[in-house]
Amino acid sequence: MARHGKSDSRVPTVIVDDVHIVYRVHGAGSGKGSATSALSRIISKKRSPSIREVHAVRGISFTAYKGEAVGLIGSNGSGKSTMLAAIAGLLPTERGGIYTNGQPSLLGVNAALMNDLTGDRNVILGCLAMGMSPEEVKSRYQEIVDFSGINEKGDFISLPMRTYSSGMAARLRFSIAAAKTHEVLLIDEALATGDQKFQKRSEARIRELRGEAGTVFLVSHNNNAIRDTCERTIWIEKGELIMDGLTDEVVKEYEKANRA
Ligand SMILES: Nc1ncnc2c1ncn2[C@@H]1O[C@H](COP(=O)(O)OP(=O)(O)OP(=O)(O)O)[C@@H](O)[C@H]1O
Ligand SMILES: [Mg+2]
Repeated sequence: MARHGKSDSRVPTVIVDDVHIVYRVHGAGSGKGSATSALSRIISKKRSPSIREVHAVRGISFTAYKGEAVGLIGSNGSGKSTMLAAIAGLLPTERGGIYTNGQPSLLGVNAALMNDLTGDRNVILGCLAMGMSPEEVKSRYQEIVDFSGINEKGDFISLPMRTYSSGMAARLRFSIAAAKTHEVLLIDEALATGDQKFQKRSEARIRELRGEAGTVFLVSHNNNAIRDTCERTIWIEKGELIMDGLTDEVVKEYEKANRA
């Protein structure tokens, strides 16, 4: 979709070309997943009779550009998380292709935190895992802890992650991931668990990351977060693209469709 009339100077970072994604669920159906039924299948050399296919994404195409923050909206099960995982390279496409310029990072997966380690060990490991040098980690450490606000209510950063509330864990995850400039940053509702103050702070950081020339995708059911963060939004339903355009217009149509 043509936007802003400056298409010549824009650098594409993610191209999604007629993508189809199918999940295969093994052992769906009553009793078929039991050990005895599996054994009898092995003995009789019959294929599992119960592979169910879920066609989660059905022919979606779009191009995202450098410097863009793109919102992804749609009702539960419409295929948003599936789309992000596929862009991150974590799911194969059944048909079509996904081309990315730069390394995509899916927030929450790349920064897989360890529950038994303390917050500060997780910050250090997470940063090293994202490719920072030990010196860089040392210089960014305090900034990350401060941004997360984990220590606002006491010395929590030296406690194991399993003692954190889900919101605190999400905040730390976001803070680690956001410490690096990502070429393509994929965020799946990561902001939803933080409290209002943290949400504002992370929205500001997303704007910064976008300014640092990355591309940001944000999946959220919070339309205001989408409005505040993204100028472009893609609306998908049942794995199909319904609308792709300026956030204000797309969210307005989405809200209209969901009012009934
Ligand atoms: N691992 C899986 N195996 C099988 N089917 C799956 C799997 N993950 C998702 N699906 C199915 O794929 C479809 C799209 O799911 P997806 O998680 O992408 O939706 P979503 O838009 O992220 O929804 P939500 O807003 O609830 O997070 C749904 O029908 C869902 O049941
Ligand atoms: Mg989802």
